[in-house]
Amino acid sequence: LMVENRTMQNDKSPLQVFVRAKKKINDIYGEIEEYVVETTQFINALHAEAEIVDKAERELFESYVHKVAAIREVLTRDHMKVAFFGRTSNGKSSVINAMLREKILPSGIGHTTNCFCQVEGCDGQEAYLMKEGSDEKLNVVNIKQLANALCQEKLSESSLVRIFWPRERCSLLRDDVVFVDSPGVDVSANLDDWIDNHCINADVFVLVLNAESTMTRAEKQFFHTVSQKLSKPNIFILNNRWDASANEPEFQDSVKSQHTERCIDFLTKELKVSNEKEAAERVFFVSARETLQARLEEAKGNPPHLGAIAEGFQVRYFEFQDFERKFEECISQSAVKTKFEQHSSRGKSLSGDMCSMLDNIHERTTIFRNLKMDQKTLLTDRIQGTETQMMQVTRDMKLKIHNMVEEVEQKVSKALNE
Ligand code: GTP
Ligand code: MG
Repeated sequence: LMVENRTMQNDKSPLQVFVRAKKKINDIYGEIEEYVVETTQFINALHAEAEIVDKAERELFESYVHKVAAIREVLTRDHMKVAFFGRTSNGKSSVINAMLREKILPSGIGHTTNCFCQVEGCDGQEAYLMKEGSDEKLNVVNIKQLANALCQEKLSESSLVRIFWPRERCSLLRDDVVFVDSPGVDVSANLDDWIDNHCINADVFVLVLNAESTMTRAEKQFFHTVSQKLSKPNIFILNNRWDASANEPEFQDSVKSQHTERCIDFLTKELKVSNEKEAAERVFFVSARETLQARLEEAKGNPPHLGAIAEGFQVRYFEFQDFERKFEECISQSAVKTKFEQHSSRGKSLSGDMCSMLDNIHERTTIFRNLKMDQKTLLTDRIQGTETQMMQVTRDMKLKIHNMVEEVEQKVSKALNE
């Protein structure tokens, strides 16, 4: 029953929009590949039989086969990417762990994140690490070992370590979300490189702030650069460590409204990436540490409030879940749009190109046929037979390609609308 419940819950996840779109577009490209391969065989046969197509054309067709294969390859690797930024110790790694429901990334004293860490799903039961520029899979037995491995490495802060974590242990990884953790924005002078190397294809950015202080210049500057380099990035702001506010209940409301106003102003007036309404839906007050503890308790079958750090747990826990819901909606919509729209328009133009080439060949075949008709006396039955057959095949092929283009267009626009 638990498995069933989880499956049902999973089906309702907004991430499924991306998962389903990805499956659909992969299927469509699978069909396109079949057509292209089939057409190429046909074209090659035409060349061998009657030399109606020349070498250049055959090569062009071969190139479509490669192009389609390349797009399929990219498609299988497409995912949704979220990147976390903020000052050192604000709780970036803790937020990611809370979302993953497991302490995967090292956090806290002695475990400062000192390079980019990307967490992504892998098949099978074994977690492993991969360093930039190497294909070697380094075994990760447990979190302690992972932390040590990351500390021992003399890595530059802009380099990337990829952590592969069994998909089946976390629904977000199963649904193709990839998490990018970063060193504190206050410790680096290479922010431009960071953005160029790790952020260009991020669908969502999460700014993790410390609710106990105010947003710093370094944090603001970083996002100014991001929004200069990317058009309208999706930015969420988490005021983390909100559990600390329980110590001062008399100031809680005023602090909250002050932070909220500043965050909304930052998104709307400074960065100009959201309107007021949207920005209000992108600012949250949470406790990552508490959420993680609650979820670890839940995993043990205990009630989540056993993980509470301070008064007001329930509200903060709900707010974290609310953040996750809005985040999931945003990332899956954004990823479908940015990743698949491009593929589908390339698919359309590819099939359009092939179609006009085939039209062309068809025309030439007709001329060729008429020419031969004029010299009918010279023709043997055999040649005529081949020709008729050829004409039939060309016509069939043309019809097929036309249908394919229409079908692809329909499917793609249907998938995008969904
Ligand atoms: P760097 O990697 O050093 O840049 O830090 P980080 O932003 O990844 O912060 P990290 O997740 O390592 O958290 C720093 C410390 O703050 C850890 O000891 C966490 O347990 C603690 N912490 C994180 N989130 C919260 C929170 O919401 N409330 C409280 N009380 N502590 C938190
Ligand atoms: Mg960290």
